[in-house]
Amino acid sequence: MAIILDGNTLAKSIKKDIKSQVGNMMAPPGLAVIIVGDDPASHVYVKNKKKDCLACGITSHEFDLPEDTGQEKLLALIGKLNNDPNIHGILVQSPLPEGYNIQEVFQRISPKKDVDAFHINSAGGILRGEYSFLPCTPAGVIALLDHYNIDPMGKHCVVVGHSNIVGKPMAMMLLNRNATVTICHIHTADLAAHTRQADILVCAVGKLDLITADMVKPGAVVIDVGINRLENGKIRGDVDFEAVSEIASHITPVPGGVGPMTRAMLMLNTLNSALTCPQ
Ligand code: GUN
Repeated sequence: MAIILDGNTLAKSIKKDIKSQVGNMMAPPGLAVIIVGDDPASHVYVKNKKKDCLACGITSHEFDLPEDTGQEKLLALIGKLNNDPNIHGILVQSPLPEGYNIQEVFQRISPKKDVDAFHINSAGGILRGEYSFLPCTPAGVIALLDHYNIDPMGKHCVVVGHSNIVGKPMAMMLLNRNATVTICHIHTADLAAHTRQADILVCAVGKLDLITADMVKPGAVVIDVGINRLENGKIRGDVDFEAVSEIASHITPVPGGVGPMTRAMLMLNTLNSALTCPQ
């Protein structure tokens, strides 16, 4: 049976540490969270981010905007927050409703307050290994590996999924740790042939049970970034957890693995923004 990489416990201890650092600051860090429209899943994510802020002593400023706010008003709000000395991080919850240009929105966020690290400057910085912020999900995966003393150096890491938010930066961050990296995606011809080569397998697709036991090398470390909501309301990842945990050396559960780590990294980015650029 694999060792469970417990994101809940590690995230809790990271947040406790953040809270004690915030306690020593003159003023608490501020995180602006903008949500547009009424996508129920997005509202749950935002509610959880607010809870994390509370746990860390970070002030959350929520902007709950109606769907018909429009691109220009949204950009203007971001412009105002860029100049607000009480705000150290700005996050626009994605997806935005139809009609918005989300890339233009991400580009309007000052790179100094880009705690999601979705700005082109942040993305480019990862390529060079020079950055102020790392995207929260891949940063959470790396923090989890570090905590369990799993060193990617020299290992064959296979990342399944090539999104701008997770797959691509994840691959780059593993490369920056001197891993040998393969990126697979929806057009990969023989996925299993690649995943079977992985010492560390990261799956970030959003497809229930995509990774079955026969696709995993015995002793591999398996990181499941997928979030799939079942009809009964429960959440499962992309990995057939029960079967794969019989052959992997380490595995993340869903929920309780990468998810809480993503949220802890957002808090860490906001703290670091306030510490390095206090306004
Ligand atoms: N929607 C789902 N996950 C995220 C995230 O990490 N950041 C933002 N801005 N939107 C999201």
